[in-house]
Parts: sequence; structure tokens; C-alpha cells
Amino acid sequence: MALQLTARQLGWLKGVLFVLALLPLARMVVLTVTGQLVEPLEFITRGTGDWTLYLLTITLAITPVRRLTGWNWLIKLRRMAGLYVFFYGLLHFLTFLWFDHFFDVQEMWKDVLKRPFITVGFIAFVLLIPLAVTSTNGMMRRLGGKAWQRLHQLIYVIAPLAVLHFWWMKAGKHLLGQPILFGVILGGLLLFRLKGKLGKAPRLA
Ligand code: HEM
Repeated sequence: MALQLTARQLGWLKGVLFVLALLPLARMVVLTVTGQLVEPLEFITRGTGDWTLYLLTITLAITPVRRLTGWNWLIKLRRMAGLYVFFYGLLHFLTFLWFDHFFDVQEMWKDVLKRPFITVGFIAFVLLIPLAVTSTNGMMRRLGGKAWQRLHQLIYVIAPLAVLHFWWMKAGKHLLGQPILFGVILGGLLLFRLKGKLGKAPRLA
């Protein structure tokens, strides 16, 4: 039988996950202010980039795991996970704007247009904005279910762009192991969701 949670248990779980998702940020802050890092700026830019990608992967895994296990309550965690993707993506972008360009927006634009891996990351981040903005129940109602779902299919563009951004960055250093791993995982998750949409995914729930 599929695991069921009461509203109270789900509330607790949400609270715990909310705090857990802040721990990577807390760790970056603590290591920086206590002077334990040799290259703090690089560590924070990379750390926020890594967590944007990890949380994107977790968010995309929720629907496949829900279908395979029948744990339908997982869907209630998806919005928070998605908003955390945006949160870490925003921090990642702001650290780039701050540490790399000292908030000089013109210089930042030049860099975004000059370096392809940054262009791709920037597009992925910009596409996350409408998803975050329309994540509330009110926006969902205002847009209507169909339009909302169509808009949120942007995730099928965002995930490949995120992997391409990571791959391009690491390609120069011939470190392709992790980008390939994330490419395979995210590709598998997107295919599973796509198959589900076409009605072919195994539905155990
Ligand atoms: C969905 C959006 C994004 C995701 C998932 C993402 C993810 C990542 C990842 C995983 C890394 C590599 C971290 C590592 O080395 O372990 C990275 C690095 C980086 N990203 Fe992003 N990123 C995104 C958007 C952006 C944006 C909008 C910018 C700037 C406009 C940006 C600029 C950078 C820079 C400068 C680095 C570090 C390069 C280096 O240290 O040489 N990224 N990103």
C-alpha cells in the first residue's frame, strides 16, 4: 500500500525540508565569514550553481517518483522545491553580478554575450522567472490550468540549457564526468514525464 501522510505530517515534512534546503547557503556563509576558504568568491559562485542544478534535478524527480510509488502527497512539495531552484539560481546570478562585475550591468551584459556558457546559463535563469512568478494558487487560477501547464513546460527547455551551461563550463577543463551524469539523469526524468503525458508511463497510483 502506498505511504500516506496526514496534513499535519505533511506540514512537518515541509518545515523540515524548508530548513534543510537552506543549509547549503548557511554553510557557504559560515565558511566565508570564518575565513576558512581560499577562494571564497569562486566557492560561492560554484556552490550556488551546483545547488541550482541539484534542486532542479530533485524538482523534476518528484513527478516520476510519485507515479512509481503512488505517494501522491509528493506533489505538495513540488512548488517549494521549484521555488528553491529559483532562489539558488537568483543567488548564483547575483554572485556573478556582484563578484565578477561589481554590479556594473553594462559590463555584465558584455560578458553574458561574449561567453557562450554564460549566455546559456543566463537564458536558463531568465526562463525560470515566469515559472517562479506564476507559482502561486492565485496566478494558477488567473492563467487557467491549461495555459499554466503550457507555460510550465518551459522546464523542458530550462533543464537541457542548465546541463549545457554546466557541460560548456567544464569542457574547457576536460572535466565532463559530472555534466554527463546530470545530462543522463535529467534526460531520463524529462523522458519519463514526457511518456507520462502521452499516457504510456507506468502508473501504479
Ligand atoms: C538555471 C540556471 C543555472 C544553473 C542550473 C547553473 C549551474 C551552474 C553549475 C552547476 C556551475 C558549475 C559549478 C561547479 O563548478 O561545480 C555553474 C558555474 C557558473 N555559472 Fe551557472 N548556472 C545557472 C545560471 C547562471 C547564470 C544566470 C549565470 C550568469 C549570468 C551563471 C554563471 C556562472 C559562472 C560565472 C560559473 C562559474 C564559472 C567558473 O567558476 O569558472 N550561471 N553554474
